Amino acid sequence: MAEAAVSMRHISKSFGKKVIANKNVDLDIYHGEILSLLGENGSGKTTLMNMLSGVYYPDDGEILIDGKHVTIASPKDAHDLGIGMIHQHFKLIDVFTALENILIGLPKENTEKNARAQVKEICDKYGFELDPDKKVYDMNVSEKETLEIVKTLYRGAEVLILDEPTAVLTPQEIRKLFTILRNMREDGKAIVIITHKLNEVMEISDRISVLRKGENAGTVLKTETNEQQLTEMMVGEKITLNITRDFVEDKTKRLEVKHLSVTDIENKKVVDDITFDLYSGEILGIAGISGSGQKELLEAIMGLQKCDEGSSVIYNSTAHGVHELVGLSTKEIIAHGLHLAFVPEDRLGMGLVGNMGMTDNVMLKRYRKGQGPFLHRKQPEQTAQKIKDELEVLTPDLDYPVRRLSGGNVQKILVGREINNKPTVLMTAYAVRGLDINTSYAIYNLLNEQKKKGVAVIYVGEDLDVLLALSDRIMVLCSGKMNGMLDGRTATKEEVGYLMTHLKEEA
Ligand SMILES: Nc1ncnc2c1ncn2[C@@H]1O[C@H](COP(=O)(O)OP(=O)(O)O)[C@@H](O)[C@H]1O
Ligand SMILES: [Mg+2]
Repeated sequence: MAEAAVSMRHISKSFGKKVIANKNVDLDIYHGEILSLLGENGSGKTTLMNMLSGVYYPDDGEILIDGKHVTIASPKDAHDLGIGMIHQHFKLIDVFTALENILIGLPKENTEKNARAQVKEICDKYGFELDPDKKVYDMNVSEKETLEIVKTLYRGAEVLILDEPTAVLTPQEIRKLFTILRNMREDGKAIVIITHKLNEVMEISDRISVLRKGENAGTVLKTETNEQQLTEMMVGEKITLNITRDFVEDKTKRLEVKHLSVTDIENKKVVDDITFDLYSGEILGIAGISGSGQKELLEAIMGLQKCDEGSSVIYNSTAHGVHELVGLSTKEIIAHGLHLAFVPEDRLGMGLVGNMGMTDNVMLKRYRKGQGPFLHRKQPEQTAQKIKDELEVLTPDLDYPVRRLSGGNVQKILVGREINNKPTVLMTAYAVRGLDINTSYAIYNLLNEQKKKGVAVIYVGEDLDVLLALSDRIMVLCSGKMNGMLDGRTATKEEVGYLMTHLKEEA
């Protein structure tokens, strides 16, 4: 077999004392192949590749490029060795054009004129569409990603690493990207694509290397494997991807929403006259194409959006009896101790404070209840520890900034904190977005447990199969209107899909 373009041998890397991101990992990458690096959230994929791109330096192990030992101590070293990585968060300068971004930091010999010609050559060769004079702030994510790749190629990369490039793309854009990747493979480039989507892995890769909890879990040829085997390699056991749905007999009305409407700044009704009841012991799924009002509906209930006049939300808390929510701010809702919990789409930002550790994030919620921030750290610490243990949150310690943790861990902390406050109603928006299979199922289980405990759960989701398996009832939103309320046990995917896209005639 030909010499590997890159050989990583016995690579280990830890963060702090407790998080072992990579342990004794071996990986070979060959010219003219597309290698998928597969693994659950937090399995160490990004860290491993960051040691090739010069972001991190290994604690142990060695790296060979074309058979020669090298030291990669900085991004510049990586670049000089022909390694280019396209990170999940793009590193482009918004106010610059594509061409200006390509030339940033390069010596003056790279004149705009020469670069323009060369960029055009690269685009023609591999099939990119890129306007060199377009400013980055005018670009959509797909264009930005294209620019990042072209920039890397312009700088002479022979080894290209793409960290979850498809996460932000539409199916059509993914098709295009894959065509380009294949063209680059033909040209002899060594390509690594990080992903946790099995269908993409089966479509694009020549070989697949799986990481599990920071260690090698095996490398296989695409032609000799299948999705089931890859799943088992990822999670280390046979898992059955089943969502249970218990029927809870005892039901109490927890939320009564009447004629709720929300108008946006352009005076458009984003939530349009929505009426429904929510009961304890049920999961109410909310389906709709993105932007149909699901986010605004939950935010309005939570006091984060102003409701228009005439709307009303009556809330029946286990602890405090019946309350009107309309007119209350989020702060007031929390201050009243109403046990209304919200897991928002924007986990860092609305949900958690990224710079703070688990303990402080647990406290955050408590001191809003008026207990004073300096009083007791002990109890929140215990709570944080409990959440960490029960939900298996991977963090070096309880004070480690949560923004540095992987998406799955962040989501577990957020859900854990909300559940810990013993909600009467638990509302979640896109709770599993960006999470891998195993973590997603852990979240479904958590929601099911809450339901069985008598919590009234709202689940806004995008995956119809999951909505149909999890929900007791499904509300379908279309253009801000409630376009149907279906029994989750009998509804079909076609039915829900139809209601998502065809607004019923008003009676
Ligand atoms: N800069 C960092 N500081 C501390 N822990 C980190 C850092 N980067 C990653 N980790 C941790 O290392 C582990 C592997 O993370 P990562 O390589 O990002 O996984 P993946 O890309 O497979 O999701 C996770 O537990 C993550 O929380
Ligand atoms: Mg990653």
